Amino acid sequence: MSHLDQPADLLVVNKLHKTFTTKNGVMTAIDNLSFDVKAGETVALVGESGCGKSTVATCLLGLQSSDSGEIVVEGRNLLADSKAQGKSLGRDLGIVFQNPYASLNPKMKIKAIIAEPLKTAFRLRGVELQQRIIELLAHVGLGEEHMDRYPHEFSGGQRQRIAIARALAMESKLLILDEPTAALDVSVQAQVLQLLKQLQSENGLSYLFISHDLATVEFLAQRVLVMYLGRIVEAGTVAQVFKSPRHPYTRTLLDSVPSIDPARRDELKTLGGEIPSPLNRPVGCHFAPRCPRASDRCHKDVPQEITEQGHRFSCHHPINAAEE
Ligand SMILES: Nc1ncnc2c1ncn2[C@@H]1O[C@H](COP(=O)(O)OP(=O)(O)OP(=O)(O)O)[C@@H](O)[C@H]1O
Ligand SMILES: [Mg+2]
Repeated sequence: MSHLDQPADLLVVNKLHKTFTTKNGVMTAIDNLSFDVKAGETVALVGESGCGKSTVATCLLGLQSSDSGEIVVEGRNLLADSKAQGKSLGRDLGIVFQNPYASLNPKMKIKAIIAEPLKTAFRLRGVELQQRIIELLAHVGLGEEHMDRYPHEFSGGQRQRIAIARALAMESKLLILDEPTAALDVSVQAQVLQLLKQLQSENGLSYLFISHDLATVEFLAQRVLVMYLGRIVEAGTVAQVFKSPRHPYTRTLLDSVPSIDPARRDELKTLGGEIPSPLNRPVGCHFAPRCPRASDRCHKDVPQEITEQGHRFSCHHPINAAEE
């Protein structure tokens, strides 16, 4: 963090919109999403399966094009730049995927996997390249003896460490972590999370942390974005959102995930009630068909976003602190 009192916005996402044209029609995966991530901060993105979290990640990385909106990193609009120059969004943003098995090329030795970004982005060669690979492996707690091995010779947790080393190699300021520990055993999850936290404080990194696991979010994040069918329905600090949720959907999420019982953490994926299809989203508030507080109005009008002390929520009948 700089000498400034207020950390600067590293990433600003403004009205990002993404539709998919499928054989069944046009589907809105991300609906005018706006949020920011400050330097050195972790912002978590939570919500049920299919709400659009990974689509946000791939749009931010330029792995797929968005329909409209702005992605601004340190004041630079990546979308405008990439269109003007006809190139990818660059290495301002890096990613660690959910599945360390699928994201590492099984035919490449670890040193080649990590060398790839170092060669293309920094043109490192020879001894310099070798030294940087060893340094990056050390950062994630792996010794240089691992360099000549292939991904299948590692455990899931080690593989995720390798994926993290590869992401660090790009020297991106913001890493998008798309369920980085979901494929790992619970005991290994804790180690990888600890590593991510340590790397963040050592390198001043920012994280956009996508997760189903609210206990993990509490451990790693300072702020939370709650997504429902492509929209952010609530956002605020971890304390605001977890201790005094204002949106009934957030309340339902919190109730459905007993954080102490890891075996039940995946329940977030299967909340009660019918999940409306993104192909046929309800008019008005998307959550209304499943909401215990819904009135006629909720089925007609999209709720405007309300902001109280930085706590944002979009609901016609927000939960009050007194009810909690
Ligand atoms: N390439 C694509 N073509 C068509 N539809 C897509 C495509 N990618 C994603 N979708 C749809 O967009 C919606 C959002 O998908 P996304 O993968 O972003 O959800 P998610 O929140 O990451 O879910 P999960 O928690 O299961 O990973 C889903 O309805 C999905 O089926
Ligand atoms: Mg996903």
